[in-house]
Amino acid sequence: MSKVLVVDDEKSMRITLSEFLSNDGYETASAPDAQSALKMIEEEEFDIILTDIIMPKISGIELLSQIREKSQTVQVIIMTGEPTVDTAVKAVQSGANDYLTKPIKRDVLLKAIRHAEQIKLLNDEKLILEKENLIYQKGLEGILLERTTALQNAMQGIITLLSSVVEARDPYTAGHQRRVGNLSAAIADRMNLGTKVVEFMRIIGYIHDVGKIVIPTEILSKPGTLNPLEMQMIRTHALSGYDMLLKVDLPSFVGETIFQHHERCDGSGYPRGLKDKDITVEAKIIMVADVVEAMMSHRPYRPALGLDAALHEIQQNAGVYYHQDIVSSCVELFRKDYYEIEDLEHKIHFPI
Ligand SMILES: [Fe+2]
Repeated sequence: MSKVLVVDDEKSMRITLSEFLSNDGYETASAPDAQSALKMIEEEEFDIILTDIIMPKISGIELLSQIREKSQTVQVIIMTGEPTVDTAVKAVQSGANDYLTKPIKRDVLLKAIRHAEQIKLLNDEKLILEKENLIYQKGLEGILLERTTALQNAMQGIITLLSSVVEARDPYTAGHQRRVGNLSAAIADRMNLGTKVVEFMRIIGYIHDVGKIVIPTEILSKPGTLNPLEMQMIRTHALSGYDMLLKVDLPSFVGETIFQHHERCDGSGYPRGLKDKDITVEAKIIMVADVVEAMMSHRPYRPALGLDAALHEIQQNAGVYYHQDIVSSCVELFRKDYYEIEDLEHKIHFPI
């Protein structure tokens, strides 16, 4: 049963109303003025407050305003002996839930109290549900964060594994994929392609030669010039990489970019001889980064050719082999931003 506080400066009213309520099973308390009522509300919780309007010092309306500052759910019923429309409006505007006029009959009082009791119960249930919902949502957020972290770690593991397996078989190009990944990400960043593309460029770069796993080590590590058959075998790595990526749960453009990274915009590349419009922007970035990094690196059969020669190569063939905008961004990256080839393996933030 609900707990009701009766506030009235007339002792007889307090006694009569409290009797009506306690006879009906309600737990009651009473206060002779607003100040005592506020003190009691501080000390214990009431479900319903039944208050007179005209009282000395603090009126029922002022009491109501002060109650509402602390609680929106407690039900407040205003009583008055001088009913006017103005008083009723003011009471409702101040947050009263109901309005009774004196003299108050027993059945009218109990009807109003039962109604207030039901509203209070519904409000309390709503609050409990909202609280439970909040806890549930926070739980879900926690689970989601946990799973996202696990997925990020799993992806990082896959990328590192794929990258290290091919480099273990091809020591001459050890670090090449890492450096191409970092350079590709830097080019994408300079082109303002957004964080998601930048992160994918790093991922693709780190594994772009993964198809070399299926090429015999003797060919991969042969120091001299390759014969046509050996060259043909090397060229299969683009398709092999694509086939391998089909089995990994990565977005399809990652595999497609690996398939295309040796294409050239004029159609002279391999394996499919694609032209500019059919080549993904990611593949066009990888092809520029791949060439620049390769020319700047030492090989057993030749020394490093240096930055000037690498940039000269891509500028000379801009609009032919390589996309003009990507070449410009790559040149600006080195010449204006003083970018230096970076060998570090970055932690991968897998874009989800
Ligand atoms: Fe390659």
